[in-house]
Amino acid sequence: MASKSKPLAIVTGASTGIGYELAKCCAANDYDLVVVADEPEIKKAAKDFEAMGAKVDTLQADLATLEGVDKLYALIGGRSVDALLANAGRGLGKGFLDQDFDDVMRVVNTNITGTIYLIQKVGRDMRERKAGRILITGSIAGFIPGTYQAVYNASKAFLDSFSFALRAELKDAGVTVTCLMPGATETEFFARADMLDTAVGQGKKDDAADVARTGFKAMMNGEGDVVSGWHNKLQSAIANVVPASILAEQHRKKAAPGSGGTH
Ligand SMILES: NC(=O)c1ccc[n+]([C@@H]2O[C@H](COP(=O)([O-])OP(=O)(O)OC[C@H]3O[C@@H](n4cnc5c(N)ncnc54)[C@H](OP(=O)(O)O)[C@@H]3O)[C@@H](O)[C@H]2O)c1
Repeated sequence: MASKSKPLAIVTGASTGIGYELAKCCAANDYDLVVVADEPEIKKAAKDFEAMGAKVDTLQADLATLEGVDKLYALIGGRSVDALLANAGRGLGKGFLDQDFDDVMRVVNTNITGTIYLIQKVGRDMRERKAGRILITGSIAGFIPGTYQAVYNASKAFLDSFSFALRAELKDAGVTVTCLMPGATETEFFARADMLDTAVGQGKKDDAADVARTGFKAMMNGEGDVVSGWHNKLQSAIANVVPASILAEQHRKKAAPGSGGTH
């Protein structure tokens, strides 16, 4: 007798950090996986998920491009996707005028264009089947103008907003949309964003496994959003009442190049 197949989850950016931990949450909860990242490290991560009992399809693709997302969609091959965890993203420090525009485009195309293109493709299938869960990794950065991280914070404001809107559109469709909003989390994010000399880059951060567990649980419960950690909850509550100009000045202190002092 054929064995019943497990539910399938797609996790983008599963090679490191929050995405790696989200994929582990899926494997621990009996999902099979399709995991994607841009660099070869994803193959090593996939072995960890397999060791937890998941059947894993692995793809190395640049999700900043429509072609990369198309490759991922082709790998799904018409299978029912029970959960889409759209997590891949990258930051970018320094003043906007000092950033390389190719790097700026990479942030926008990874965090926004590739993410929503994938969500539209998989979301249409979920709506057709009247079932599915979507988790989007936004950020509390989306509430705060990101002085010295302007494009990144704006990209997360886009995702936070998009997530709530899509959730409302799919209210009666059997598909839930959840926005995971972490605060500063211990991952490769700040090194990749060239922000290790900043106060936020050097400061205390949340544990990626804790953040992922919070997000996974909220997705399984069909919640609209979840801010991980009480200090981040406080920060996002304050951000709702403090003028944007003051938030932007506060952000300068955390993210300005050199704000972390010498090390
Ligand atoms: N760390 C924080 O403080 C923090 C706070 C709030 C929200 N977040 C969000 O959390 C998510 C995960 O970040 P993280 O902190 O876990 O950082 P991370 O350790 O750098 O992980 C980022 C993941 O995304 C993948 N990725 C990036 N660009 C990609 C692309 N163009 N195509 C395919 N994969 C790509 C990376 O794979 P490759 O290495 O192969 O490129 C990696 O697997 C991001 O959306 C980030 O904005 C992070």
